[in-house]
Amino acid sequence: MKGLILSGGKGTRLRPFTFTGAKQLVPIANKPVLFYAIENLVEAGIQDIGIVVGDTGDQISAAVGDGSRFGARVTYLPQDAPLGIAHAVKIARPFLGTDRFVLFLGDNFIREGIAPLVATFRRGECDALIVLAPVPNPQDFGIAELQDGRLVRVVEKPQDPPTNLAVTGIYMFDEHVFEAVESIRPSARGELEITDTIQYLIDQGRSVLPQRVQGSWIDTGKMEDILEANRLVLEMLPARSEGYVDDDSRLIGTVVLEEGCRIENSVVRGPAIIGRDTRIVNSYVGPFSSIDHHCVIENCEIEHSIVLECSTLRDVSYRIEESLIGRYVEISRSPLKPKGYKLMIGDHSKVGMV
Ligand code: DAU
Repeated sequence: MKGLILSGGKGTRLRPFTFTGAKQLVPIANKPVLFYAIENLVEAGIQDIGIVVGDTGDQISAAVGDGSRFGARVTYLPQDAPLGIAHAVKIARPFLGTDRFVLFLGDNFIREGIAPLVATFRRGECDALIVLAPVPNPQDFGIAELQDGRLVRVVEKPQDPPTNLAVTGIYMFDEHVFEAVESIRPSARGELEITDTIQYLIDQGRSVLPQRVQGSWIDTGKMEDILEANRLVLEMLPARSEGYVDDDSRLIGTVVLEEGCRIENSVVRGPAIIGRDTRIVNSYVGPFSSIDHHCVIENCEIEHSIVLECSTLRDVSYRIEESLIGRYVEISRSPLKPKGYKLMIGDHSKVGMV
């Protein structure tokens, strides 16, 4: 079997992050969400992986490389424009050949992995397998309708959802999918939809097996979902310390200290991860925080947050909570008069003041 991960697309819901970076590289517990997908495939015995990339392809290939460090062989498949998930399958045909494959959307996160699902599909008793999960906001997803346990209909982001069962971004197909992606037409939003592809297979009498997700699944398309995925991973991380903690500091609960980080006169209450060469000084870092490498947190309190690499937070008087802070960000107290907020904030940023 092969793997096909989609890492192109627009990422409009994650602006301003996606102005400068690929949404699939936003870190969860200091590791890009895309890496979890690669690891899930390798764990399920799939080493031959194609990654569909768009405008951010250079960043994706710089981060992933040839896949050897994951025990995989990665082939990059450029997609000229984000014309739909089914379009990405179409352009991947020369790579996939006649092999059965797993299609994995690069911003989907499934904490418990996909090995049992792949084992079911490997038995060869169905032409396709889709993974379903109940969601509170079904109008934001492809939605499945079942009758007596059989899949009868899938619809993309319906205004009036027939059920709350979302089609997650993990699908398995055999070569019949190519007839489907060649036959369907673009939807009203101009994309070749994966849901129309699945409906085509159902209508042609192919066996499409619906499986309920076991464990936690998250589409990390929005900030709240990234924070939630971060919480789920940190909850499971074993403690590790490759950093320095001075005598005036305290670590409480499960804390991961990556190489070269320093905790000075501070309290870190886990679960939390502090990245390589980051300094935490006179500060409190609370539960469910991931601070990436080369950051400085000084005279601050922060929890339930993610801070990306090389950012500095200094002398902030209120606790920073439920925040996603980008790369090379500086937040500090200005000594200059007049006293007031001095902001340089990119388009589509969101700031909550107290
Ligand atoms: O997360 C599950 C949902 O994913 C399903 O319930 C929907 O049926 C399915 O259409 C999809 O909906 P999204 O609106 O979340 O898809 P999005 O446009 O965010 O794309 C998903 C991933 O695929 C993302 O990592 C970008 C990548 N992509 C997307 C398109 C449209 C590509 O690489 N190329 C593309 O042309």
